[in-house]
Formats: sequence, C-alpha cells, structure tokens
Amino acid sequence: MKVLVATEKAFARVAITQIRTVTEAAGYELVLLENYKDVSDLLAAVSDVDAMIVRSDLVTPEVLNSAKKLKIVVRAGAGYDNLDLPSCTAHNVVAMNTPGQNSNAVAELAFALMLYHARGGFIGKSGTELRRKSIGIHAFGNVGKHIAEIAKGFGMDIYTFDPFVIEKDIKKYGVKVCNTTEELYSKCQYISLHMPANDKTQKSIGYNLLKKMPKDAVLVNTARKEVIDEDGLLRIFEERPDFSYLSDVTPDCSALFEEKYKGRFIFTVKKMGAQTEEANMNACLAAARQIVDYFKTGNEKYKVNK
Ligand code: 3PG
Repeated sequence: MKVLVATEKAFARVAITQIRTVTEAAGYELVLLENYKDVSDLLAAVSDVDAMIVRSDLVTPEVLNSAKKLKIVVRAGAGYDNLDLPSCTAHNVVAMNTPGQNSNAVAELAFALMLYHARGGFIGKSGTELRRKSIGIHAFGNVGKHIAEIAKGFGMDIYTFDPFVIEKDIKKYGVKVCNTTEELYSKCQYISLHMPANDKTQKSIGYNLLKKMPKDAVLVNTARKEVIDEDGLLRIFEERPDFSYLSDVTPDCSALFEEKYKGRFIFTVKKMGAQTEEANMNACLAAARQIVDYFKTGNEKYKVNK
C-alpha cells in the first residue's frame, strides 16, 4: 500500500513524523509531495498511490483520473469543499475529513486577528478591549465552540445562530441563542464566521446582514472567502467608515481594500488558521489512522461522499 501526502502548504515536520509512524506500523509506504507549485506534480504523484492525504489541495476530476489505484482520500481538516465529491464517488474513491482536529488553532487565530485590530496593529496608539463587547458566532460547530470558550475567558457577551444545533447544547457553553441571522448581526459588534462553504452558504453574508451590525462592527472570517458577497461587503465599507473586516482568506477584491480602506482590514498572507504544530499533528494523526482503519476494518465513519 502506498500513501501519498500531497500538500501545497506543508504540514509541520512533527506531524509528518506522526503520519510516518502510523503508516509504517501498518506496513504501508509513505510518499511526500510538499509545497508543490504545479498541478502536474500532483498528477504525477497520484498515479500509483492507494491513499492520499491532502489539505486545501484541489482534488478535481483531473486528479482523480490520474489516480488509477486510489481508494481513499482524506482531507486532513474540516472543510472539504476542495474535494470533488461526485467525482470521488464516480471513481469509487472514499472521501473523508477529520472534523474537530484543527478547530482550536482556527479559533485562536480569530482572537489574534481581533486583538491585533482592537490594539491598532501594535503601534502604541490607544485601542479598545474585547471585554464586555458582544460577539456573534455564526455557526456553532467545532470551531464555534472553541470561540465560545475563549470569548468567555475574555468576558465577552456571546451569541450564536445555528439551526443545526439544539438550544441545550449551545446554552451549556454559556452562549445566548438567536433565532435568525438578522437577530445575531443586529446584536453583535463582532461576528465570527464558522460555516462551511457550500451551495447554501455561498455569498450568504452580504449587505443586508452586515448593515444590521452595531457601531464599530468587526467581521471576522476564518472560514471561506466564498461565503462573503464581496459586492455587499464593499458597499458597507463605502457607507460605514466604522466597519472592519479581518480575514484569514484574502478576498478577490483585496486590491480595492488596499487602495481605499487601509487600517480597516487585515488579510493574512496565506490561509493560516490551521497552521500550528498541534493542529497539524491532530489532523495528520487522525487522517493516517482513518486510512489504516479503512483498509484494515472498512471503517467509513468520516466518509463525506455518498
Ligand atoms: C479546514 O477546513 O480544516 C481549515 O480551513 C484548514 O485548511 P488548511 O489545511 O488548508 O490550512
């Protein structure tokens, strides 16, 4: 059995050591394709592997066509919008993710962005504090729960909207439940996004929601750029000089932000929410174990394609 780790953005070395330990203990060969620049490298690397671990790397029909022996692909992370699921199914490839494994890292980055912004970029001028400010967690999944725990430590007033999580499971985190997105956005100075990118969420955060946010509104996006309606966001920025956008995913319209709105946005250079040794180790270990378990026992617990 050959297991490929194909990552355009490499995992920490300690995480690779973990994958190697698990795969070699199972008697499999581990192959690495890290920091590749061209999809042709990926197409060549997948040609003879039985299993593959990826991050946000695109697993397209072209990749799957080249992967003649592939039986399983595991996205070492939460969001699997980079996997072409119908094509995986058509190629008899099981697709999995590793939910929850990198959530704390993403939540910590959301707070790093909020603090850096609240303190004016650490240049010594007077800023603001997070204590007693309201935060709305839009979607209460694994990352949302970590946001709630950290926000509690900061003494924030915490709200969420998530129709898929029952009230009891939200309230035990000390979080208040909103019944609509409109209510959430109206109540919260900070909004932190934690929904997946899919047909329903695409461009779902736009002008009508954002305009409801109170004074000195801050939108924090460590999810996906696709969930933002960028025209609506630009309209809000034009109308409201008190509005800020902090994002781990650079928007398509970033040049306009650079030109017109300096000081009101932060965009990380490269998506780095999950870029910690701990998150890499957790996700890698889970991915490697899921592959071994699938081959040895047929366990499909984290399968995401039909
Ligand atoms: C995820 O969906 O798990 C995160 O967005 C992390 O993505 P990455 O592995 O590309 O950093």
